[in-house]
Amino acid sequence: MDFRKINEEIWDKNVDNQDIWTMPVSSKEVMKAKEGDWKIVLTPTKEVPREWFPKELTGKDVLCLASGGGQQGPIMAALGANVTVFDNSQNQLNQDIMVAKRDNLIIKTVQGDMKDLSMFANESFDFIVHPWSNCYIDNVLPVWKEAYRVLRHGGILISGFANPIEYIFDLKNINEDKLVVRHKIPYSDLTSISQEELKEFVIGQGEAIAFGHTLHDQIQGQIDAGFLIAGFYEDKGGTVLDSYIESAIATKAVKL
Ligand SMILES: C[S@@+](CC[C@H](N)C(=O)[O-])C[C@H]1O[C@@H](n2cnc3c(N)ncnc32)[C@H](O)[C@@H]1O
Repeated sequence: MDFRKINEEIWDKNVDNQDIWTMPVSSKEVMKAKEGDWKIVLTPTKEVPREWFPKELTGKDVLCLASGGGQQGPIMAALGANVTVFDNSQNQLNQDIMVAKRDNLIIKTVQGDMKDLSMFANESFDFIVHPWSNCYIDNVLPVWKEAYRVLRHGGILISGFANPIEYIFDLKNINEDKLVVRHKIPYSDLTSISQEELKEFVIGQGEAIAFGHTLHDQIQGQIDAGFLIAGFYEDKGGTVLDSYIESAIATKAVKL
């Protein structure tokens, strides 16, 4: 199954359906960012601490990785960075293009798979913003390796991703706010559930095909790629689990 193609179509539709992760920033937010008043998120609610960003973003080469939707890219561009927004969904990229035209920003957009950044030269970015999205790929290790390759030394990668605990529960029950433990981690919508369940509870609900990666792949995977993990926080994941545990994670990683 070409899950990347299916996820492209689902995220294209999410834009038509005004899913929260496809809603671009307003002109007011862009204007305020130009005046120094801004925030971005990598996870559902908490804003990224200011000390996770380079002191000065003007003139910095910033890659917003799997970050279409007109959110992080326009804010980075308003701060004077040279921004490239990379995403699998053209409709998501169109949101960045729309904001750029509307608010007079320069934003380059590239459509592709986050596991393959071969269109970018080694050491061509200073900062990578990688919001919650690696649940849509079957293997996160190539992303950490590619991010490391395209960053300059001293460059920073900030990422948001899911605690795999989100994926141990039965989908049908979790949709009804019931927590029934069922799955092993790593989880895959392609192999952990039946084709019927995939059709009914994932694709049929307009959900993109998802994968629950181990914390080893999420954290040690970054370290193995060469990064030093220099920051960490947790946030609400936006599911029924929020009453028990914050299931979203953000990390700051530095290429020394
Ligand atoms: C939850 S949204 C995150 C973007 C959003 N700007 C935000 O504020 O968090 C997930 C994004 O990942 C993108 N995506 C999914 N699979 C991808 C892949 N294989 N390569 C690149 N982007 C992908 C989707 O198209 C979607 O725009």
